Amino acid sequence: MAFPQQRLRRTRRTSALRSLVRETELSPQDFMYPMFVASGQEVDNEIPSMPGIRQMSINNAVAEAKRAHSLGIPGVLLFGIPESKDEAASGAYDPEGVIQLAVRAIKDAVPELLVVTDVCLCEYMSHGHCGVVDAERGEIMNDVSLELLARTAVSHAEAGADVVAPSDMMDGRVAALRADLDREGFEHTPILSYASKYASSFYGPFRDAAESAPEFGDRRGYQMDPANAREALREVGLDVEEGADMIMVKPALPYLDILRRVRETTDLPLAAYNVSGEFSMIKAAAEKGWLDEQSAVLEAMTGIKRAGAEVIFSYHAPDVARWLS
Ligand code: PBG
Repeated sequence: MAFPQQRLRRTRRTSALRSLVRETELSPQDFMYPMFVASGQEVDNEIPSMPGIRQMSINNAVAEAKRAHSLGIPGVLLFGIPESKDEAASGAYDPEGVIQLAVRAIKDAVPELLVVTDVCLCEYMSHGHCGVVDAERGEIMNDVSLELLARTAVSHAEAGADVVAPSDMMDGRVAALRADLDREGFEHTPILSYASKYASSFYGPFRDAAESAPEFGDRRGYQMDPANAREALREVGLDVEEGADMIMVKPALPYLDILRRVRETTDLPLAAYNVSGEFSMIKAAAEKGWLDEQSAVLEAMTGIKRAGAEVIFSYHAPDVARWLS
């Protein structure tokens, strides 16, 4: 009995042949590194639920951004932890806010490093929701939120952000950001839209890191139901029509089918966000000696790329870049 392709049998492959026929190859250039920038001086707080990840004041964030750049990582994604929060999320669009200052400092120190900013209100709202809340009805006010989000994006662009990334999931936000960016002279600033962002338990450690857990209720009113796939494609379609330049699927590992389907429906660059809980799971198992960290991480990242992501946002980025070099 003759087997087709028997000369490529896995038992016979040399390592050169294995790498010749390998379909997916990771590179440091596939990665973007999310960072938490805190207001204040000399802040360097390890986040207990995210081993190795820290809240850093701007001076330390600049040093960490330099390290990422020297490892061959093309860019960072910035989240801000402001000094104080209020009901209007005023820290989000303050020209002297923590993110605006951090963007300037990082672009000054490492101009070639891409700086992407997360555009959301939850870290700046006293109640921790991603939009403005109507206190009487306890509801998110979509359209009022859009104005603040667009203002936030413009302030990031003014500070020098290369790309703005809205993660709030309000309806119509890509169009709102695009209109204000264009009007203010930032018609060349691309929008990376978290087009399909699920209401996920895997954001738990992030909410410790960004101090952004909602005080009441949850985010299921605006983030997507994990049970829905076709809805993700509709969300992507809308964001593309509204002018998104890149698309994000988030989280990554429990949603690889979504990544694949989005890859097949749009030609825009596609990113996946390997979120905090996905990171912490592997870290925790590795600390217990239950998993080999390096091989587990590389396997997970390869899976995300194989599913269709050309950019992977991951807290593992510096480790991966080190292991690959
Ligand atoms: C803000 C935002 C969240 C994440 C990214 N942007 C948290 C949330 O929606 O609760 C999660 C990222 C992660 O878990 O690493 N809206």
